[in-house]
Amino acid sequence: MKQVYSVTDLRDCLAGERPENKRVGFVPTMGALHDGHLSLVKRCIEENDVCVASIFVNPTQFNNKADLETYPRMPEKDCALLETAGCDYLFTPSEKEMYPEPDTRVFDFGPLAQVMEGAFRPGHFNGVAQIVSKLFDAVGPCRAYFGEKDFQQVAIIRWMVEQLNIPVQIVACPILREADGLAMSSRNMRLTRLQRQKAPLIYQTLKESTGFAPDKTVRETEVFVADRLNSEPLLLVEYFDIVDGYTLSPIRDWKETPYPVGCIAVYCGEVRLIDNITYKI
Ligand code: PAF
Repeated sequence: MKQVYSVTDLRDCLAGERPENKRVGFVPTMGALHDGHLSLVKRCIEENDVCVASIFVNPTQFNNKADLETYPRMPEKDCALLETAGCDYLFTPSEKEMYPEPDTRVFDFGPLAQVMEGAFRPGHFNGVAQIVSKLFDAVGPCRAYFGEKDFQQVAIIRWMVEQLNIPVQIVACPILREADGLAMSSRNMRLTRLQRQKAPLIYQTLKESTGFAPDKTVRETEVFVADRLNSEPLLLVEYFDIVDGYTLSPIRDWKETPYPVGCIAVYCGEVRLIDNITYKI
């Protein structure tokens, strides 16, 4: 694996691969890699000739300064994991490299960003679109891989790619879970032992709600999940919305969409965890 620090060097390296018509796949990350990230890398390797991963903790997508400062960073371990996974290029730019000038672009995602993460983390998706568009420009991938844990992020990136006419296929990959069901996340390592014991209740409750969802209304299902989790003193639900998985608009009736998805954000102490589940009605 070759580690590259500048956009120019990355373009030079990849230009060397392209005359042979090699397909370049891309996995953008913020590091602190876990098996969920590695599953994206594995799929990228299977489906492309060249696999590029990036690690960049993007300051413009953090609406909370403390979250940016405490975001886990472990570059050496990440590098070793990617090397072992068979990644070809690792792009680790500095902040100056990605933002030589402040990025003043403002994206209007319409209704897609007015709910859930967009509502509770103002500016977050604007920062995601800024960095992902710059990374796509630097890498020029034919496919890019994202985890479905960030369900709304995938929708926003698909929208951005269409708006900006970027010729890249967005591949959404299933959530990877720990044995007890907790969705894998770089933030899990910030949980105390007790919080870690309670966090699996999030997925257990989501799963349980799929069992009775058709017999209860959308609202009753939302209330069940929020109440059950809030009754655990270490958990505090920020939102739990059942939305149309295509438009992200909240639904009131199961019949409104063939693809209802329940999306949740929960504070476990200081650590904010997200997850989602699809209802089969
Ligand atoms: O999902 C993430 O880790 C980040 O939002 C991304 C896509 C790498 C952009 O910084």
